[in-house]
Amino acid sequence: MAADAYADKGEKIFTANCTGCHAHGMHHIALGKSLSKGDLTANKRNSSTAIIALVTNGKSPMHWIIQI
Ligand code: HEC
Repeated sequence: MAADAYADKGEKIFTANCTGCHAHGMHHIALGKSLSKGDLTANKRNSSTAIIALVTNGKSPMHWIIQI
């Protein structure tokens, strides 16, 4: 798949599954846990491995397993 196609797919998945709590990459529930580079670095989630693990395994209240 071309890079643009991956980006389109990712945007659809994010809009469908994540914007409820992370609209515009921010956080409506947990302060200091936005998807900004600063917060991700501070929370040691600044790698694709860490983000994949978090989203795959879930963390309350993100306690679901996404099927992509
Ligand atoms: C039901 C609300 C909810 C939904 C929907 C949700 N999240 Fe979260 N997300 C949270 C909460 C709450 C945290 C903070 C968890 C914690 O205590 O560390 C979080 C944390 C994160 C973090 C770590 C942020 C940081 O700075 O440490 C990432 C990355 C993340 N979410 C990605 C996603 C992605 C990608 C999706 C969609 C697939 C998603 N989230 C959907 C509530 C949600």
